Amino acid sequence: MSGTEGSWGVCWALVTGASRGLGAAICEGVAPLLGEGSRMVGVARTAGGLANTEGQLKKASAKVEFIPVELDLSVASKTDMETALKLHFGGEDVPSPSRVLIFHNAGSLGHLKYLKDQVDQQHVQQYFNLNVSSVVTLNAVFMGMVRSLAPSAAIEVINISSLCAVQPFKSWGLYCAGKAGRDMLFRVLASEEPNVTVLNYAPGPLDNDMQVAARTETADDDLRSAFSSMKNEGKLLPCSTSVGKLIDILNSKKFKSGDHVDYYDEL
Ligand SMILES: NC(=O)c1ccc[n+]([C@@H]2O[C@H](COP(=O)([O-])OP(=O)(O)OC[C@H]3O[C@@H](n4cnc5c(N)ncnc54)[C@H](OP(=O)(O)O)[C@@H]3O)[C@@H](O)[C@H]2O)c1
Repeated sequence: MSGTEGSWGVCWALVTGASRGLGAAICEGVAPLLGEGSRMVGVARTAGGLANTEGQLKKASAKVEFIPVELDLSVASKTDMETALKLHFGGEDVPSPSRVLIFHNAGSLGHLKYLKDQVDQQHVQQYFNLNVSSVVTLNAVFMGMVRSLAPSAAIEVINISSLCAVQPFKSWGLYCAGKAGRDMLFRVLASEEPNVTVLNYAPGPLDNDMQVAARTETADDDLRSAFSSMKNEGKLLPCSTSVGKLIDILNSKKFKSGDHVDYYDEL
């Protein structure tokens, strides 16, 4: 992993899904790179998970203040988001950042059924609320907040994507559509905002809770056993390894804003 301690300078970072898995690893991996006076806000529903992340982050860096925010993004309103962000990034004693980053990481798999069986309309609506709609609103609220509180800061938007954004997986229709939709939203953002850096990062198959669900709940037999084989053959990645690659990609600046970059791509 490239980047020396504090080399990113004073930053504000917002990480969704910070209570476990990849989001917790992003907090832990990025924190040492942030300079003195930086703030990191971690959003999730589970207080205990956020507290664990805070504990890990304190070990990783004494310079960064971590602020846990309990918010259910599937139901949070624009006002809930604005209130949380202004409360934690605003304030006269908060050093002005040169760089602000938002990691749109929170996500869910939804029902892993064939499309012919996706008859639960409420579930489908809730799925897209969390995985697509809330991302649009949170991103707009975040950009508005940054432009009013820290107008000279460089904005970087990182969308946690997936191979499923670019490849169909049987019985994973909701997940694939959500990830493809998010990638396109952020490609549009990159074209609308030439001064904002946008990255769609596919982190590879991770050895965490989401993969347990993939191995046990996937309706398609072939796909379910492919996930089990990946686990049995030791092909799943530790979250920290994937975060290391993400940091290398951000530091290298070799991608074009809006690109989809996979863990397995050459830098
Ligand atoms: N695991 C993989 O193999 C893999 C592969 C490719 C891409 N990804 C992507 O990586 C990202 C992180 O996934 P992960 O593997 O770390 O999954 P995970 O272990 O299931 O973690 C999901 C995170 O999202 C949060 N979250 C879920 N619903 C939420 C809600 N309604 N409001 C706020 N936060 C919510 C969870 O926190 P709470 O439960 O505390 O709310 C948790 O912190 C996702 O976007 C996923 O699609 C994962």
